[in-house]
Amino acid sequence: MPGISAPSFTAAEIESEAERLLRALMHVDCDPRGRRWNYDTCREIAPLTLEINRLKKEKGAVILAHSYVEPEIIYGVADFRGDSYYLSMQARQARAKMIVFAGVVFMAETAKILSPDATVVVPDRDSGCSLADSLTGPQLRELKQLYPDATVVCYINSTADVKAESDVCVTSGNVYHIVEHLPARRILFVPDRLMGQNLREEMKRRGVDKEIITSDGTCIVHDQFGPAEMAEARTRYPGLKIVAHPECPPEVAAAADFVGSTGAMMKYVKGSGAPYYLMLTECGLVGRLQVETPEKHFIGGCRLCPYMKLNSLEKIRDALVAARPDQVVTLDEPLRQRAARCIERMFELAPTD
Ligand code: 13P
Ligand code: SF4
Repeated sequence: MPGISAPSFTAAEIESEAERLLRALMHVDCDPRGRRWNYDTCREIAPLTLEINRLKKEKGAVILAHSYVEPEIIYGVADFRGDSYYLSMQARQARAKMIVFAGVVFMAETAKILSPDATVVVPDRDSGCSLADSLTGPQLRELKQLYPDATVVCYINSTADVKAESDVCVTSGNVYHIVEHLPARRILFVPDRLMGQNLREEMKRRGVDKEIITSDGTCIVHDQFGPAEMAEARTRYPGLKIVAHPECPPEVAAAADFVGSTGAMMKYVKGSGAPYYLMLTECGLVGRLQVETPEKHFIGGCRLCPYMKLNSLEKIRDALVAARPDQVVTLDEPLRQRAARCIERMFELAPTD
């Protein structure tokens, strides 16, 4: 594979690493680069995963990986893998000198907000997010002037500037609980319009009187799912369970068997005995489930987040060897402190389970 440096490991070390990788990756059949994982492909990347794992120790670094990044990162080098909420908790608790965030930039920014003394690096500075990129701090300030009495709730998929302007942050795993328990009736929810619509429906379902005002962002992956593919899949696969992320359109959420964060989606599948699953989310999560529940069957095509897929083992290795300035996350300190208050409020209000 291009970009892999000459190994400084013994043949036995490489073989044993290849076997370790193979035990996980052999189950992944929807690789974003179309690779088939077998002993040879695992052996090709083994020197690189060995090198990264050695560099981590040398540099006092930890690697946090979102479940959407490629499986060789998740199972080869990550110390912690999961959803935005879990990873933000890990970042907050990390005592590491360096945090490498294999995810997207807003997640690395969140890690820097919560662990300001650590050097936080992103493998690729272009790993944005259509939601985070849909709203700037100045735009939110203008919106707030239109709704001065609203409590401002930002989804964690937002920039540090937007978090600094918000009262409380939420993730896909705690948005319903936190908004339900906020004292304000009027909520300005940014930047995900579709999650805002799902939130409005869920508050109605729970009999909670809230006015939810949203901005206009959407996730370019989840806004593509529609009820037609769900109906067709149900006809073809009796007993199918459809599992959706709350960034999906409301008509999709309404017709799904379960709606939740990527972490909750995994938990649901692990606890269910259904014969088939249609996962309405980014394909990386299906890869994780194929590794962790190899006996289950996943149907449907593969939707990729182009930003998450900018992460690679090579970029992680390069960042660990010598991070370029564009890979290092820096934040203005007063802004960081304001953004931290909004995230800490989430930790206070989030359910404890
Ligand atoms: P989760 O926190 O549910 O993993 O969601 C993050 C995300 O970006 C989904 O598109
Ligand atoms: Fe952003 Fe959507 Fe990618 Fe998640 S899947 S990081 S919300 S663009």
